[in-house]
Amino acid sequence: MVNPISGASSLNQETEHEMTTEKQKVAVITGAARGIGLAATKRFLAEGWRVVLLDIEGELLAQTHKALAAPDTTLAIHCDVSNADAVAAAFKQTIDHFGRIDALVNNAGIAIFKPLLETTQDDWNRVLAVNLTGPFLCTQAAAPLMRDNGGGAIVNITSISALRASTLRTAYGTSKAGLAHLTKQFAVELGGLGIRVNAVAPGPVDTAMAKAVHTPAIRADYHDTIPLNRYGLEEELAEAIFFLCSERASYITGQMLCVDGGFEATGIGLPTLRREGRNG
Ligand SMILES: NC(=O)c1ccc[n+]([C@@H]2O[C@H](COP(=O)([O-])OP(=O)(O)OC[C@H]3O[C@@H](n4cnc5c(N)ncnc54)[C@H](O)[C@@H]3O)[C@@H](O)[C@H]2O)c1
Repeated sequence: MVNPISGASSLNQETEHEMTTEKQKVAVITGAARGIGLAATKRFLAEGWRVVLLDIEGELLAQTHKALAAPDTTLAIHCDVSNADAVAAAFKQTIDHFGRIDALVNNAGIAIFKPLLETTQDDWNRVLAVNLTGPFLCTQAAAPLMRDNGGGAIVNITSISALRASTLRTAYGTSKAGLAHLTKQFAVELGGLGIRVNAVAPGPVDTAMAKAVHTPAIRADYHDTIPLNRYGLEEELAEAIFFLCSERASYITGQMLCVDGGFEATGIGLPTLRREGRNG
């Protein structure tokens, strides 16, 4: 059929559209139904990528997917990243639907903040299963598909808790420290396949997770130890994640970028300096 305005046939138009779409890069983002994962999803979409959103919260994921209003460039898959069969099925569905994977963001995570003596073995197992085994399974599933496509980039979302011990974080901090090492391990092993692997370590970001685990007193403590004197924004994390997945980071692998307002760099003394009005 001929288009009366352009004169081109609709068949040709369709083929052109399919070719452009085929070249559009694809990111798989875990835990994308809200928070940092959702902000990262929006950042990739804004850069012309297609995005596969994985999340364990099926209803929330469906709402988020609908609200994005981008049915051609997004795919939502209900998936628990700690379940090997569900992960394998999700990556198969991704390839069947979009044909390629260029980036994986291992963002899904849970926080169970408890004193050591109250942390049950179930707490420990679940935190490690989601925060550490999840990225292991997703990376194992994604790497061969990236290799077949000429390479790719992976970003693991760790935490400042990966670098420094703190209260209530026996399971969470250890899972994130494991993920920090896994980042280097992956970078070493996958470099030969053209796959770069880096981590982003957020400081406090005011997401549903932070709201659930940060009391007002803890929030004040954070302000005391952060040179920029505020929580981070989801969009600020998304920026770093996108950068590390982009061509602009083409020679960066095996690194952890702290996006934390200077939290990790800080020792003692900042609250006193502020009280005395001597902090710049
Ligand atoms: N918010 C912070 O202050 C902060 C600080 C440091 C690190 N982080 C890390 O950033 C990442 C994102 O955190 P957020 O604050 O956006 O959290 P969030 O709780 O708002 O979002 C996490 C998302 O992951 C999903 N999820 C949880 N378990 C899953 C599973 N098994 N399979 C698939 N999806 C699952 C949740 O349903 C949710 O949509 C996490 O890895 C977290 O540990 C957050």
